[in-house]
Amino acid sequence: MTQEENAIIEFEHASKVYSGRGKKQTRAVDDVSLTIREGDIYGIIGYSGAGKSTLVRMINALEKPTSGTVTVMGQQVSSMSESKLRPVRQKIGMIFQSFNLFSTKTVAQNVAYPLQLDHWRKDYQDKRVKELLEFVGLAEHANKYPAQLSGGQKQRVGIARALATNPKILLADEATSALDPETTTEVLDLLKKINEQLGVTIVLITHQMNVVQQIAHHVAVMSAGRIVEQGTVYRIFAAPREDVTKRFIATAISGLPDEARVAKMHEDWPGRLVTVIVRQHDITDPVTNTRINASGQNISELISKHQIDSNLVFGGIDTVQGVAIGAITYSFDGADGEVDDFLDELARNSDIVDFGTAKNPVDYNEAVEHAGIASPVELTEEDGAARDEQAEQVEQVDDVVTMTPREVGVDGTENTEEK
Ligand SMILES: Nc1ncnc2c1ncn2[C@@H]1O[C@H](COP(=O)(O)OP(=O)(O)O)[C@@H](O)[C@H]1O
Ligand SMILES: [Mg+2]
Repeated sequence: MTQEENAIIEFEHASKVYSGRGKKQTRAVDDVSLTIREGDIYGIIGYSGAGKSTLVRMINALEKPTSGTVTVMGQQVSSMSESKLRPVRQKIGMIFQSFNLFSTKTVAQNVAYPLQLDHWRKDYQDKRVKELLEFVGLAEHANKYPAQLSGGQKQRVGIARALATNPKILLADEATSALDPETTTEVLDLLKKINEQLGVTIVLITHQMNVVQQIAHHVAVMSAGRIVEQGTVYRIFAAPREDVTKRFIATAISGLPDEARVAKMHEDWPGRLVTVIVRQHDITDPVTNTRINASGQNISELISKHQIDSNLVFGGIDTVQGVAIGAITYSFDGADGEVDDFLDELARNSDIVDFGTAKNPVDYNEAVEHAGIASPVELTEEDGAARDEQAEQVEQVDDVVTMTPREVGVDGTENTEEK
């Protein structure tokens, strides 16, 4: 067994096969090898039925793999007896989509429940419950019942309860899936605070890419029981490799206009419609030993240098791990040849999609294919040396303006973000 540095959860060739009636078998988890490091917020994303819940339940050994091993905090939980598992499970909290609260217990009683199971003295229980309710912002709701709370508040109770015995790991299985976007963000902010202030490692299971995007550092994409792609959230967003990953990204990041949108913009703007992909940093991919270059970082400088007219007509820029990523579309006008010269220079350092003018439009698919968005380049040895430095920079960047596509949709119509 190879114990990787700081690993807190390690799957090694873990599979889970359920045998149904007759000969029918479901391979819910299929040969998963995955390392989660201490202090991480690790997202696991996949469609319904991908095997996420089965995978996460192997961490606290509610499910045992049919083959392979699962090691948590240095202990091989996949082969431990129930009695030995008890102390390990106490260091693993879990929260759920359905909150799983006792409806006949008050908020305080729900939170105290794991402490009772652990035979804490009553006065210690009371003190701990008070502390936890303050931490999750529910101090004044201690004596209410779950039915008197909003969804977000219920999940805060679930979180307080999960934290009661000071876990080192928190498993969140679709914990925000029943919440509206605003409440989702509040709960995710709380999870972030738990990770940062208490040092709890969080495994975030979700089918929503924007959940991963908001707080995760790393993400694994699961499909049909397998991990098909994994990496930093920024790498996955900027340069997804697998089709299933690309589909998830499309739901979370807007900015590249679709065909109908381009046609509409040609009606409204006579100039040269060009989408510039924005990536604030280079992204190196150690798996394929390639780099995707930063893009769209010198647009304004080149616009003023070439003295062309520009109108920002569409776009969406988001931040992923504090780094800007997205696409913005301009309509450019200028004297003969000037726009061509400008685009030639822009294309040297940026991915651009040239949709042509209203009079001479470029076929949508041709334009997008020709652009070769996020084409990787082979890494040289020098790049390899610069890589670690870069990774650090990515962590440090903050202060990036976040624009939602709706705000930037200045073409007069609402961007409905459908994809
Ligand atoms: N206890 C079980 N018995 C039989 N099949 C199961 C069981 N639990 C899950 N499955 C099957 O395993 C697959 C993965 O399920 P699950 O882990 O719940 O996926 P997800 O959480 O990604 O939606 C599904 O096909 C599901 O029907
Ligand atoms: Mg599930």
